[in-house]
Amino acid sequence: MEEIKYYLLCYVIPIVIACFIFIRMFGLNKAKCKAFICSLVCRYIHGKVCDKEKALLFEQLKDHKNSLKTNSKFTILEIGVGSGMNFKFFPSECDVTCLDPNPYNEKYVIDSLRKANNNIRLVKFIEGYAENMLDVPSDSFDAVVCTFTMCSIKGLNDAIEEIRRVLKPGGKFFFLEHVAAHKGSHLRSLQDKFQRIWPYIAKDTHINRETWKFLDNSSFKDVQYHLFTAKFFLAFLAKPCMYGSATK
Ligand SMILES: C[S@@+](CC[C@H](N)C(=O)[O-])C[C@H]1O[C@@H](n2cnc3c(N)ncnc32)[C@H](O)[C@@H]1O
Repeated sequence: MEEIKYYLLCYVIPIVIACFIFIRMFGLNKAKCKAFICSLVCRYIHGKVCDKEKALLFEQLKDHKNSLKTNSKFTILEIGVGSGMNFKFFPSECDVTCLDPNPYNEKYVIDSLRKANNNIRLVKFIEGYAENMLDVPSDSFDAVVCTFTMCSIKGLNDAIEEIRRVLKPGGKFFFLEHVAAHKGSHLRSLQDKFQRIWPYIAKDTHINRETWKFLDNSSFKDVQYHLFTAKFFLAFLAKPCMYGSATK
């Protein structure tokens, strides 16, 4: 009897209360729930695991802005914006358009923009996929930014060509992604094994994608990237990362 009481108090009741709160917050809405989880996980990722590389990447974005001798506003498109964790690194005084298939991310984007407090204007949140950016005119952005998203884009070749299409001539694509480990390494064989079950956990995502190959084989010129090891602890399969840029 005592044992039953213990399990009820320590496990069953707290779990039932947690489920009740969760369902009150999100209903049974998967997309809403995904946006909430993304906002929590991404805050951890961006705050802890690749802070140095992110700073270097966005320094390049600032340099790109400064190199443009134009009076018009600097325009950025962020693909797979999630909850908008990159805004605080963006140069001030720019116009940002965000694209993400999950409409529930918009509220987190607006919140992150307010917190970034660096005079960035949100032009539009587009609900859509990078593979097919019908609503986005060609040659319209100075820069496209994409972080931790290329792993989950199903048609990555199409998406990269779309990114190139929407960039102005001379515009730059800035990216930071987790990628496949070196071929032949122990970590790579673990990634390859895990990839067989991974789609059941997170649909359409890749833990062993050689993302650099898609960029090398694209119509972009001057593709530059640096491989590095992120400070992921539990998610050690996502440690191999890369950041870099490509020019239209
Ligand atoms: C891991 S989150 C990363 C979010 C954000 N970029 C960051 O670094 O915090 C991946 C995001 O990509 C979005 N996404 C998934 N497939 C996509 C696609 N085909 N095109 C554009 N975005 C996509 C998801 O909705 C999600 O918001």
